[in-house]
Amino acid sequence: MNGFGSEFGSGYGKECADIVRAAREGTYRIGMILGSGLGALAEEIEDAVRIPYSHLTDFPVSTVSSHSSELVAGTLAGVPVVILAGRAHYYESGDPAAMRTPIQTLKELGCEVLLATNAAGSLRDEITPGSPMLISDHINWSGKNPLIGEEDEKRFLDMSTAYDPELREVMKKVARETGEPIAEGVYMWFSGPTFETPAEIRMAKLLGADAVGMSTVPEVILARFTGLRVAAMSVITNYGAGLGTEALSHEQTKAVALKGTDRMKQLVRAFVKEVGQ
Ligand code: HPA
Repeated sequence: MNGFGSEFGSGYGKECADIVRAAREGTYRIGMILGSGLGALAEEIEDAVRIPYSHLTDFPVSTVSSHSSELVAGTLAGVPVVILAGRAHYYESGDPAAMRTPIQTLKELGCEVLLATNAAGSLRDEITPGSPMLISDHINWSGKNPLIGEEDEKRFLDMSTAYDPELREVMKKVARETGEPIAEGVYMWFSGPTFETPAEIRMAKLLGADAVGMSTVPEVILARFTGLRVAAMSVITNYGAGLGTEALSHEQTKAVALKGTDRMKQLVRAFVKEVGQ
């Protein structure tokens, strides 16, 4: 048993949702996870309360420098939202289910939709650093799954529409309306923390990936397991190893993600407004 309990809600999600409600009353519509360098989105939240992960049972405090590890509850474009500013990655602890309780908490707070964001490397020339990419599907190259050990029959999860087709249409529509159309592609999850080798990047391309990264897939699986609908978006921070000229580093990821944040903020706000109507 990995701690989900045989029935959803029997873990720490309820307890943590109570802590959030004690700080700020209300129910919420949309939950978000902010990836590397994208924490600035949390500053957009109005009427916000901020709760450090360390005050929330079983919330994993991230060891990654660009992740602030706090839950922010408030409104965005008039819609009640909960932001998980900071995620724990598989490579930090070896636990693919590290984000189990935060995602349960979103569900317990009434969220119906999870919008996950990350930083990623592009495998396609036309998806350039600084631009966003809507995730249409994923390849779980790590082979790890957060539901291993889960006993509930729901573990046999249909992943054919994990990235909700309706929500993807909404994102594409708001992207067109706010300026340029958004690229869409398949995200391939590598465990990290090393970046990929050029040979791995060539393989990823051959296998049908458009971008690579070290996160998101476990959270998408957990979110689908809890019944949340999912949309996910990458900010492209570089070309995959061997495809570009720049050396890859976390510093570089953070710097370019920060530059992509303005466009991301615009898209997220418009998406939330549309979905929250
Ligand atoms: N690979 C894996 N993760 C990443 C990358 C990359 O090229 N860029 C940003 N996160």
